[in-house]
Order: sequence, then C-alpha cells, then structure tokens
Amino acid sequence: MANDASVVSDTLSPAVSKGSLADLFTPPADSTLWRKNFLLGAATASYQIEGAVNEGGRLPSIWDTFSATPGKVLAGDTGAVACDHYHRWEADVEMLVSLGLEGYRLSIAWPRVMDAAGVPNRKGLDFYKRLLNRLKEKGITTFATLYHWDLPQHLEDRGGWLNRETAYRFADYADLMSRELAGTVDAWATLNEPWCSAYLGYGNGHHAPGLADHRFATQAMHHLLLAHGLAVPVLRANDPASQKGIVANIGRGTPNSDSAADQRAAHLFEVQHNAWILDPLLKGSYPQDLFELWPGTEPLVLDGDMQTISAPLDFLGINYYFRTNVASDGAHGFRDVPLEGVERTQMGWEVYPDGLRDLLTGFKKTYHNLPPIYITENGMASDDQVTDGHVEDTQRISFLKRHLAAVDQAIKAGVDIRGYFLWSLMDNFEWAFGYERRFGVVHVDYSTQKRTIKRSAEWVAKFLKERKARA
Ligand code: FCB
Repeated sequence: MANDASVVSDTLSPAVSKGSLADLFTPPADSTLWRKNFLLGAATASYQIEGAVNEGGRLPSIWDTFSATPGKVLAGDTGAVACDHYHRWEADVEMLVSLGLEGYRLSIAWPRVMDAAGVPNRKGLDFYKRLLNRLKEKGITTFATLYHWDLPQHLEDRGGWLNRETAYRFADYADLMSRELAGTVDAWATLNEPWCSAYLGYGNGHHAPGLADHRFATQAMHHLLLAHGLAVPVLRANDPASQKGIVANIGRGTPNSDSAADQRAAHLFEVQHNAWILDPLLKGSYPQDLFELWPGTEPLVLDGDMQTISAPLDFLGINYYFRTNVASDGAHGFRDVPLEGVERTQMGWEVYPDGLRDLLTGFKKTYHNLPPIYITENGMASDDQVTDGHVEDTQRISFLKRHLAAVDQAIKAGVDIRGYFLWSLMDNFEWAFGYERRFGVVHVDYSTQKRTIKRSAEWVAKFLKERKARA
C-alpha cells in the first residue's frame, strides 16, 4: 500500500467526511497547493519522539542532561520515553501512510550512531536504516536532519559548540551517515534551527546546554554554521543524488509605532532572528548590525570559513511560527510589546500567517541566490483533549489553512517554494515545555502511548486524497 490514503477515507469522522469542516477549509481552486508536485508532509525530531535513551548503545545527549536538571523543563519532563517511537516506529509509519502524507521529515540522533571515538554504533545505524527503507518502500519522500539539537554530551564536555573541534566532529558524523544511508534519503538537512541552538542554548540558557552569554551565542553560531559548511561537500560526495540544505527558523518583527526608533527596533529584531543565519549562508558575511545590537560579540572567524559556510545549497528549509511586535528599548535594542486582542496559541504565540508570506517575499528581494524553499515546520500547540475518540482541534485546521494560503501567496509572488511539512506528526516532547504543549495532528496519550488522529489530520488526509483524485 504505497502512500495510499484509502485507510483514512473509511475511518473519517462523520463531521469531516460529510464535508462540513473539509469544505470550510478546502483551498480555493486556483491555489498552487493543488499542484501535485507541491510536497505535503509532516515533521518530527529524534529527541522529541524516540525515547529509549539508554537502548541500543545510545549515549547521553545534552538534552538528557538538561532535562534531568531541576527547573529546566516544565514539570520535570524528559525525553526518556517520549512517544516511544524507537519501539513503535512501524505503526507510526503506517499511521503516516494512512494519512496520505507524501513527505516525512525526521532527524537522526547523533548519540545513537557513533561513540566518543567516532566508532559507528551498528545498532543505532540499523534503526535508521530500517526506518528509512520502510519509508522508501511506502513511497514517502524523506528529509533527514542530522542535528536537531541532541548533541552528544561527551562533545559538550569538551566545550560543545563553543569548541571549533565540534564542527569537524560533525563533518565526520555527516560522512558516516551519508555513507551508510546513501540512497534512502531524498534530502539532507545539516542543522535544524541554528538560531535556537546558538541563542537559546548559549545566549539565554533556555535550552541545553543552558549557557547565557551573547559572546557564546555568536561563537556557537559560527561553529554551527561551519559544521554545516564542512558537511555539505561530504554529503555531496557520498550521496550525490540527494538534495542538501539547512533548516532555519525565521521570525517576523513588526514595529509598535511609525517612529524611526521602533522601525529600527523591528529591523534589528529581524537581523538577530534571520540575517544572523541567512547572511552568512547566502552572502558569506555576518550582518554588522548584529554587533550594534550586541557590541563586542564578533566571533572568531578563520580564513576561508565564510566561503565554506556560503557554499551553494540545493534547498533552504524554513520554519515559521509567529510574529513579535517590538519597540525600541531606548538603547541599542528592542523589547517585545505583546499586542492585545490578537489570536494566540497554547504557546502564547500570535497567529500571524502574513508574516510567513512577507518574510519569504522579502528574502527573495534580499538574497538574489535564494535557493528553492521547503517550509520544513509550521504548526501550533493547543490543549487538545480526546472526547469520544475524537480531538476537535479546529483552531489548528484554521491555522494550517491560513498558513498554507500564505505559502500560496508567496509562490504566486514568485518565491520558489516546493513543499510544506506541518509540525508535527504527533504530540511530543516540546523541549523546555515538556509534554504539556501539544503540536501534533495526532494526539498521544503518554500513559498508554495510544495515538488518536485529530480532526486536523483528517482534514489534511482528505485534502491529499482529493488532490490525488484530481491529478
Ligand atoms: C521548533 C523546533 C521543533 C519544535 C517546534 C515547535 O523551534 O524545531 O523541534 O519544537 O519549534
């Protein structure tokens, strides 16, 4: 049953199959989303779903350490069990297939596949081989991220991303993975959201490893981007047929007033969130305004680094969630000014689809060499409950619909966007927020590991089925 939505069609809830929700949220006839070659999929990440942290020779990661530290994660949650995907992967793949999803973005846990001396761990490699082979058999397009934040703890013990050596170890890891998994991965992403790794991990300490100094953040960012740049040619050599790229989260910053100071604040917000990553990748330099915001934080950059970092990409993955309204802080920077009366999610994030469109069309103007784009994450958390076997997550359907419409608008404005992965396939360990925040289109009951398809997943499945039928 290769990528067949028939399973779902029989089990659609009456509300959706009769069309009420579906009609309400079906894209208009002229939407580019009806194009068959626009890939629609779902995303997850290793530490957020796998669990089995002590099995198959997996070593500790910085998130095991961080989540075990009191006060770091809501309710003291950890990824020790998560969605138990390590044991339930076959059923999870079936679920993905039954929804008719065409793409799956997953990540590989570095601490599962090699030890501190760089020796491959066969059991860990076999897990990913089995998983990727099954996805291939099912006709799913696979995007594999090499680093979605679970750095081996032994590397953090030697300085983590503050140590340039970590970038070279990452290239070794990329070498191993692309030799072992060549032919099973359609697209490799080196890093997920280096902004989060660098800023939340080393700049404000909200994420592992929990350090808080802007000088650390800029140096960690440089080594992360260097790791990316060193890995790309290795991936190209070992697995020439696949696409190579990186995934960046982007943030929309809007000024709280027309004043020049607030306009400048919004500009600096976007420099800090977007240009800090995209300029080195696409222009080969750091934005100088970043160092106006954070004086004295220029990283140590060696000769040749910027060329390594800015080597051409086959695709750019974009993750988008919300906008931030900002004002000048009266000095060099910005401060958040949350707007009243706007729609928000369980995270408190504002629902602002126009931000996605505006950023994408803006990037097209700023970066003449902007690679083809995949939206590699977009979605929302809600406090979903299972009632009579159903989860009525109508806000999520509306959220997805509005963001997909924003993608359609950006495509029509000339941005080359080739696909969209919703975050996330299923509820999972939401980092510092633990299990309380539910981002899935499938509900997970963590006490039983039962998966329940939410209305949003039914909606996506119905759309995909209809698109297939029209093709
Ligand atoms: C992104 C992360 C992803 C998930 C979503 C909600 O920043 O890449 O793992 O936690 O946010």
